[in-house]
Order: sequence, then structure tokens, then C-alpha cells
Amino acid sequence: MAVVGVMYNLKGDPPEEGEPPDLGAELDSESTVLAVASALKAFGHDVCLIEGNDASLSELRARSLDIVFNMCEGVRGESRESHIPAVLEMLGIPYTGSGVLSLAITLDKPMTKKVLAYHGIPTAKFRVFASENEIDLQGLEYPVFVKPSHEGSSMGVSPSSFCAQPLDLAREARRLLKLYSEPVLVEEFLPGREFTVGIIGNKNPLVFPIMEINFDLVPEDHGKMYSRQFKTDWCDEAYFSCPAQVSPELEQALKDIALRTYRALDCRDLARVDIRLDRNGVPNVMEINPLPGLTPGYSDYPRLAEKGGWTYEELINGILACALKRYNLLHLMPPRSCRQIA
Ligand SMILES: Nc1ncnc2c1ncn2[C@@H]1O[C@H](COP(=O)(O)OP(=O)(O)OP(=O)(O)O)[C@@H](O)[C@H]1O
Ligand SMILES: [Mg+2]
Repeated sequence: MAVVGVMYNLKGDPPEEGEPPDLGAELDSESTVLAVASALKAFGHDVCLIEGNDASLSELRARSLDIVFNMCEGVRGESRESHIPAVLEMLGIPYTGSGVLSLAITLDKPMTKKVLAYHGIPTAKFRVFASENEIDLQGLEYPVFVKPSHEGSSMGVSPSSFCAQPLDLAREARRLLKLYSEPVLVEEFLPGREFTVGIIGNKNPLVFPIMEINFDLVPEDHGKMYSRQFKTDWCDEAYFSCPAQVSPELEQALKDIALRTYRALDCRDLARVDIRLDRNGVPNVMEINPLPGLTPGYSDYPRLAEKGGWTYEELINGILACALKRYNLLHLMPPRSCRQIA
């Protein structure tokens, strides 16, 4: 068994005036951290909880950890998800999940799309505006979709992200630039069905049953998007279909593009890939999440795993087992058997 440090960033105080209303949406609640810790304990590991912040360096030095279960979304900055992994690497402490470079690239959606393009993986045509002066209303086919470049949990994604014409784009791009103080990403709108695909493993990664986001029950004026409002208000089963009802060809295409994306970004142990079909029915990657939410019964990733027959405990310990294997730490595997993943 291992001594496992569970590292995380907790949700803080509600946002203040002038700050984005969805600030901190990607951070974890205490109950999620405790759920991960108790899953690890159930398999016999010794667990300690460590908040990932500027005190982590000395705290990590003072402890003798075998491995860290990394859930840190970071405190600030455009590379915030890679800060704690960088510290862990410097200290020589193994950790679960993707490495520093993958976490930095995948938090940057435009950079991720450049890597995807290099690999010939379909992704919507796009532009990035770093400031109001750069806003360019030409060059992309309307409608377009606007979102912040470096966020997750659908922060900044709302009905006004859908822009049917240049005036809408000018207004929304300015609004997001001001509110989030970071570049905005403008993409051609992908009008087709939406799927999310969960992956676990390394050499021969396993894909959980694919989930389709069901927009049929969403009010007409909201539009077909997995917005911040969708993720907070419309959580019950009716809004999702898993396994997605797709032809065997489409299922294979979705699995293939998800795994190609996972490999292209050098992801490790786990990730979730968000995909939409373009107007020709071709799957396009919107983004990959190497630190998918792990809230039991709510986050997409554990829901996908559950549909694949994995309990929450098996999933969390499966992720740890992938990392232990990668670091050749098989002697730290618990006697209670983990599912076999290559
Ligand atoms: N080009 C696009 N065309 C159509 N819809 C889009 C496009 N880009 C994003 N969306 C919609 O916005 C949602 C959020 O976008 P995206 O997955 O990039 O954001 P995120 O905040 O990183 O999500 P997550 O919660 O998975 O971290 C998508 O699930 C999709 O519904
Ligand atoms: Mg997403």
C-alpha cells in the first residue's frame, strides 16, 4: 500500500463585484476531495490531504509521500494546472495524471487546437483575440462560438456565446475580454450532436461508454450548448444519454478521435474529450480535459465510468494504479485487486 497525498484546490468565497460570476467553478468542493480520499482508504492506502498552493513546497518536503493523487486546478495564471505537477517533479514525487507540458497546453484551448491540427485531428476553424484591437469580424463563417481561451467547467459559456452575425461577435468578444481578462477564442459553430468520451489507462487505454448531451429539453432561447447554466441547472439523467445511441461507425469514429487526441497531447492515466459533429456529421474535438471533474454522481467522468460498470472506488483506485504502474511502483499496489488496465 502507498502513502498517498491527495492534492486539490477548494472553492473559495463567492466572486466579488466585477469578477466573473462563475469564478472558481472548476475548483473542488470539500465533499469531492473527501470522496477521493475515502475511496483510496477503502483500498488500504494511507491518505493525507494537501491543499495545492504556495505553501505546498515546504509541506511536501516535510512529508514522506509515495505518490500524489493530483486534482489541483491551480490558484492563478494561464499555466495554473501545471504548477503543482512542476513542484512535484522538482521534488521527485510521483503523481497521477498528465504531466506539466500536457496540463499547460490543454488549459490553453487555441494551443491545443494547433497541436490537433498538426496531427490532422478535426477541430473547428478559429481565431484568437487577445485585446479589443485584435477583434476581427471577418474570416470565419457565421455562426461562430465565443469562449474564454483558458477556462473550464463552461466558464464564460452562455447563450451569448452563439453569435449569428458580426455585431453579436463584436459585443460578446468585448464582454468576455473585459470580464475574464484573457484572450477569447472564436470558433466556427459546430451544429451537430455533442458527445463526451472518458478514457483511462496508458499503453492500451480503455474508453468508457460514450455519453451524448441531450439538448431536446433545453429551452429554445438557450440554444444547443453545454453551458454553465446547463451544468448547474440541468443535471438529471434526462439531459444525457449514455451509452449514446449511435451507429457502430460513429461510435468507432468517436473512440478513435478521442484516443488520437489523448495521444497527441501526451495525456496520462485519465482524460475526457469533448466532441461535436460538424455540419457534415464529422466529429470535431472541442477540447480535452486531463483533470476531469471527479464529483461522485455529478461530474461527467465518474458518470461515464459508472455506465461502464466501475464503482467510484474502483475508478479512483484505477487511476492511482495506472500511475503506480507507470512509475514502476507495483509493490505499492493494494492487495484488494484493481481492475486491470494496461
Ligand atoms: N465551436 C463550438 N461549436 C458549438 N458549440 C461549442 C463550440 N465550442 C464550445 N461549444 C459548446 O460550449 C461547451 C463548453 O465548451 P468547452 O468544452 O470548450 O468548455 P469548457 O469550459 O472547457 O468545458 P469543461 O466543463 O468540459 O471543462 C461545449 O460543451 C459545447 O456545448
Ligand atoms: Mg468541455
